Amino acid sequence: MRLSAYFLPLLRENPSEAQIVSHRLMLRAGMIRQSSAGIYSWLPLGLRVLKKVEQIVREEQDASGALEVLMPTIQPAELWQESGRYDDYGKEMLRITDRHERAMLYGPTNEEQITDIFRQSVKSYRDLPRNLYHIQWKFRDEVRPRFGVMRGREFLMKDAYSFDLDAAGAKRSYNRMFVAYLRTFARMGLKAIPMRADTGPIGGDLSHEFIILAETGESQVFCDKAWLDADILASEIDYAGDLEPFVERWTRLYAATDEKHDAKACPVAEDRLVTARGIEVGHIFYFGTKYSKPMGAVVAGPKGEPIAVEMGSYGIGVSRLVGAVIEASHDDAGIIWPESVAPFTLGLVNLRAADARCVAAADALYARLGAAGIETLYDDRDESPGAKFAAMDLIGLPYQLVIGPRGLDKGLVELKERKTGRKEELSPEAALNRLGGK
Ligand SMILES: Nc1ncnc2c1ncn2[C@@H]1O[C@H](COP(=O)(O)OP(=O)(O)O)[C@@H](O)[C@H]1O
Ligand SMILES: [Mg+2]
Repeated sequence: MRLSAYFLPLLRENPSEAQIVSHRLMLRAGMIRQSSAGIYSWLPLGLRVLKKVEQIVREEQDASGALEVLMPTIQPAELWQESGRYDDYGKEMLRITDRHERAMLYGPTNEEQITDIFRQSVKSYRDLPRNLYHIQWKFRDEVRPRFGVMRGREFLMKDAYSFDLDAAGAKRSYNRMFVAYLRTFARMGLKAIPMRADTGPIGGDLSHEFIILAETGESQVFCDKAWLDADILASEIDYAGDLEPFVERWTRLYAATDEKHDAKACPVAEDRLVTARGIEVGHIFYFGTKYSKPMGAVVAGPKGEPIAVEMGSYGIGVSRLVGAVIEASHDDAGIIWPESVAPFTLGLVNLRAADARCVAAADALYARLGAAGIETLYDDRDESPGAKFAAMDLIGLPYQLVIGPRGLDKGLVELKERKTGRKEELSPEAALNRLGGK
């Protein structure tokens, strides 16, 4: 993509409304714009990141055996009256009346909707287990939307729902999501720590919040120091096998939120206990028959007996993750994207847009990068080198490749790694080879 033809409205100044670094940087890097409180438009650069995050979430859900569907954003109130949550949900629910005076709502979550789909279609225990998920916008009329996309009113969530015949099956489904979550966040370069959590308004028996450590987190958390060196992706996962040992391994290591932590009962010695702020990026629940019973999601068991299915639900804050990754990875100059979610892998910078030789060299390299499948944002604008470097550092692409007259005299270009700031002069060939593996 040529920057001269792109839509990248950078801000020079820090927007005064942004209190935390991810919000500031997302606005400054031209990723999002606010529409109204807690509601945002995603601009091209931001949308590319959102899609990458979404795709990692999707791949790990698919790998675990979950099946993607897409449910509507607008739901009928009757479903929520059936489950008994219509009145309980309170002011966070955006209630809408259609032209026929029917009560509708903008979905804050989809337990009722999916239970309705399930009960219409699944009648036998033979069709279990199933896990259905979607990645869809939600609306919750938060009292205090803040921190940009971190606590929005409209936000993108992946929510999955599992259906099993009995509690043992439901635990296996829970375990599959538990593992998929650990892998999902690790692939984004995040250390998300599963912490025993209260089940809250969704209710139920078993629940973990996946929390990343960051100074600006909304909750206080405690964990064993060993979490800091945990390497999730080192283990091979077989979703068809028994995941209990893996889950046990990662739940044995102490980690707890404020609500669950008790300093006196804490099993971790003080010098091994990390106290930090945390951001919740995912949340999983097992809640049994809380919805299947009142809504009649019943299957025929092996002897024809009616069995209310055991359910769980599993959320990931997809849009929140974009902010969370920035909270975890930035410096004074701007964002530092992990390669897996970077909007582009490389920024190609031509330092002299008025110099025909530089233009020819940069154009040629741009074409070859494209042919090699390296996602490149090509700064071909007529701007000062300082402005170009600042823009590249701000938007945080993992690599920068700089072409200037002095280097070209020697037949060299400069490759910079954003994370370390390490710079290296090398031939265009060598640079292509180096980036080719990306
Ligand atoms: N207002 C919000 N803005 C952005 N993401 C949110 C918001 N509320 C929840 N999420 C994300 O969706 C995930 C699932 O939500 P859930 O656990 O049901 O919400 P809550 O933690 O508010 O009870 C959360 O872990 C979080 O990552
Ligand atoms: Mg939660």
